[in-house]
Amino acid sequence: VSGLLLQRLRGGATSRRPVWLMRQAGRYLPEYRALRARHSFEDMSRDSTLAAEVTLQPLVRFPLDAAIIFADLMSPVGALGVKVRFDPGPVIEHPIRTPADVDALRLPLSEEIAPEVMGALRLVKRELNDRATLVGFVGAPWSIAAYLVQGRSVSGFPALRALAVEDRGLVWALLTRLTDLVIAYAGEQIAAGAEVIQVFDTWPGMLSRAEWVSLVQPHLERIVHAIRAFGSPSILFVHDAPHLVQEYAALRPDAISVDWREDIAQLTTDLAPHTIVQGNLDPATLLAGPDATRRATADLLSRVQPRTHIVNLGHGLLPETPLESVQALIDVVHAEGTQ
Ligand code: CP3
Repeated sequence: VSGLLLQRLRGGATSRRPVWLMRQAGRYLPEYRALRARHSFEDMSRDSTLAAEVTLQPLVRFPLDAAIIFADLMSPVGALGVKVRFDPGPVIEHPIRTPADVDALRLPLSEEIAPEVMGALRLVKRELNDRATLVGFVGAPWSIAAYLVQGRSVSGFPALRALAVEDRGLVWALLTRLTDLVIAYAGEQIAAGAEVIQVFDTWPGMLSRAEWVSLVQPHLERIVHAIRAFGSPSILFVHDAPHLVQEYAALRPDAISVDWREDIAQLTTDLAPHTIVQGNLDPATLLAGPDATRRATADLLSRVQPRTHIVNLGHGLLPETPLESVQALIDVVHAEGTQ
């Protein structure tokens, strides 16, 4: 079994807590910015060789336990015939608003879904040589739909919420199509070498619990079951939705990843030994420098029982993050393991 992260997700004993960081491949790295000065984000993610190089950049610098494939939440939607550009987040040329828009979506063959991501996974897998766990990822249907319907990131995604009231059947049909896409995409990633799939649900927090149960839960349930049937563990990341964390845990993914608002110590105790909990330092903590990061990490480790914990942030690393803070975080986790 390659890497501490996969060992832990498989329920095995590990010498210490696994540690990796969301957006560990990104703009806080000078080597990422150097490549990015020559290529657009689109070009980097659409070229398997460049995407593999970026995926590995943080592992050259830091002893992380996972590599997460460099792609985007929107990488698979090109296969539906949807045009996406980045400015800096995803922008959809023709937002989906009508039944005709949903009917016009292509029904892709599995091998047509983001083949460049599969190429990158195969390259990274060969380079990693079992040094760290290779993490593939998919967006949750609701979070992909947020961009497809709204057209771009707008606080609270009001167009999506309005459409869910105006034509619930339409939103349901869209979410069903996205769920089929996401399941096929996860299967392709596993076949190309991904050992774990993290499902990112970034925007469910705008829904009431009742709305979430009727619109989102059935789709997520299908995705978690499908990843298990493919033979890989799943990590379910839920962002900015404290009222839904228990519902996400009830879907019984192998691990649940929570943001910094969650009482992760309590959650870990509640869910042990069946569900592993990942998180949850505030990414902004790292901006306060290595000493503050060292204290915050030590505090996290002292509060959360080690056996079912994966150390990570509550959301992605910020572009302004000092490299010394990332090193400090990892040092504290490693030091605990060797005591
Ligand atoms: O975590 C990693 O290191 C893997 C790479 C990764 C990216 N996007 C690369 C990226 C992952 C896992 C994602 C997922 C993603 N993309 C999510 C879900 C996770 C989350 O952050 O909540 C969402 C909502 C998106 C949509 C998206 N893509 C936004 C809002 C933005 C702009 C904000 C930003 O950080 O720039 C992007 C662009 C993007 N995706 C970048 C990267 C490294 C920045 C591109 C650049 O300008 O260099």
